[in-house]
Parts: sequence; C-alpha cells; structure tokens
Amino acid sequence: MGRGSGFGKVILFNEHFVVHGVPGIVSAMDSTADAEVKKIDKGGVIIRDERKGAKSYAEKKKIQQKESIDRMFKIMGIDSKKNSLDIWLGGNLPGFSGIGASAASSVAIARAIAEEFEMNFSDERINEISYEAEKAYAGTPSGIDNTAATFGGLIWFKKNLEDGPNTIERLNINKSVEILLANTGVVADTKEMVLGVAERKKKYPEKYDPLFKQSEKLVFKARKALERFDLKRVGELMNESHSLLQGIEVSCKELDYLVKLARDHGAFGAKMTGGGGGGCIVAMTPGKELQETVASAIEKEGFKILRTKIGVKLKGR
Ligand code: PMV
Repeated sequence: MGRGSGFGKVILFNEHFVVHGVPGIVSAMDSTADAEVKKIDKGGVIIRDERKGAKSYAEKKKIQQKESIDRMFKIMGIDSKKNSLDIWLGGNLPGFSGIGASAASSVAIARAIAEEFEMNFSDERINEISYEAEKAYAGTPSGIDNTAATFGGLIWFKKNLEDGPNTIERLNINKSVEILLANTGVVADTKEMVLGVAERKKKYPEKYDPLFKQSEKLVFKARKALERFDLKRVGELMNESHSLLQGIEVSCKELDYLVKLARDHGAFGAKMTGGGGGGCIVAMTPGKELQETVASAIEKEGFKILRTKIGVKLKGR
C-alpha cells in the first residue's frame, strides 16, 4: 500500500489576482489530507472519501475529483485501463471550500500512488503532478494551492505567465500566529469563480485594472508587515484585501457577514480566502484568548470554525 499527505492552505493575500501574475502570500496549515492507495485486481478506480466536514463538498466535487485523478494517471504515465486502484482519503483537514482541500488531496493521492508504484518522485515532481490535477478543480490554476500543499510553510508565490518556473520564496516569521477560518457552508465552484474574474477583467478594464494594480502594491506591504511581525498592520491589510476581492466580485453576502462578525469581535483583520462565492473567511486572531473569543462568537451564530496557526513548523508528510 502507498501512503501520502498534503497540507491544507490559507491564502492570506491575493487569491484570484495570483492567477494573473500578481504575487500572493499563502500559508500551509497544521492540518492535512491523507491518502492510501492500493492496487486491486479489477473495478477501475474506487474512491472512498472519508474526509470530515461538509458532506455535500465531497458530493459536489466528485466529477472534478475523478477528472483530477485521470489527469494524474496521465502525467505519471499510468494506464488507467490496465490499472485498478482503491483510493482512501481522510485526514484532519475538513472538506471546506477555500482551504485548498482539493490541492491537499491531490498531493496526498499523488504521493500515495507514487509510493504504491515505486516511483521515486521529488517534491518538485509531486508539485507538478498536483498542478496538473488542480486544473480539474480550478480550470486555469495559479499553482499557489498545490505549492503550499506540497512544500508547506509560509510562501511568497508568483505565477510565471510565460511558462517558465513560478517564483516560490519561503517567508519566515518570528513565531507561529493563531488565526481562524470560518465556513459559510456554501460550496463554491472555484473554476467558475476564476473564469468569471477573467471574463470581467477583459470586459471592464477601467474598473478591474486599478484593482489589480492596488493588489500588487498591497501584497508587498503585507510581506513587509509579516516580516516585521506587525500583526496589527497585517490585519489592516487583510481588511483592504477583502475590499479588493469585493471589487472583483468574488465575495458574497455570507462571506461579508462572517468578515464583519470576526472584526466586530476583535479580530485584527478578516477577509475571504480562496475562490470565494462561498467557502471560508480567514481572521487574524493572535493569541489563544482572542482566537477563542472570535471563534465562539462565530460558532454561536451556527458556523463551523477551524482554529489553526500560520508560521508553524510542519511535521513530515
Ligand atoms: O478555493 P481554493 O481553495 O481552491 O483557492 C483558489 C485560489 C484561486 O486564487 C482563486 C485560484 C488559483 O488557482 O490561484
């Protein structure tokens, strides 16, 4: 049997903008998707998805999941007609939208398949394979999700629009910081969201171009604030980032509501994270106490929370 894991991620700055070559900042989380893969005699590819969290998530993503595995087989040179596999998916990363659940599972599955087929792949190769798999979920992904899911840590990412290697730089911060994710419960289609931005950007340059310029300025400020460990400033910039994401029309009323709730209860800042249209918000809540205050206030309103940290030293895979 082959085994593998992939990290969940939270995009702190510039989801969507990264697809178009603007730098983004992403952090892996302490939670992983885990996979076990076993060759079986017949039956094609059987997927047993036992990840916790939104039940409808697994249902809604089933077709894209199947496509992602076909894509992986192809790039790994495995003949899907000749090989039957039993794939189990689990781990402590919930199946929420917006936290890189798809990329984490692709990385986990790619690693597990590689182990089962005794292919000795580097992390770079696993990253390439999961990027290919991500296309099934995100259409034209930037690569930020699979990069975080593969390598872990806090990462500065810039997509190379010319087909060359992407810029991937590790950022170091003083110590780990409590954040929280709150789930709207709405499962969104990242592919549609990414496509929508591309269409509107083309159609309304007078509105979209300035927003893209601002997102570029903002991410450099955010990098400095993170490196200075000025978390108040990071929070303010997260708020600004949310406004830009509202500007490109990827937020929704549920996300805006959760962002306001987190801010009202003392978060240093809050924004939607990931593809939007549903999915999650991320709130900057340094210290266990603040994290708990904000988390329980949101839970009281009936939403699911993931309490996590950025900047942690992540354990193996
Ligand atoms: O919704 P998620 O967790 O798959 O995040 C998508 C992030 C986007 O920036 C919207 C797309 C991408 O490929 O970068």
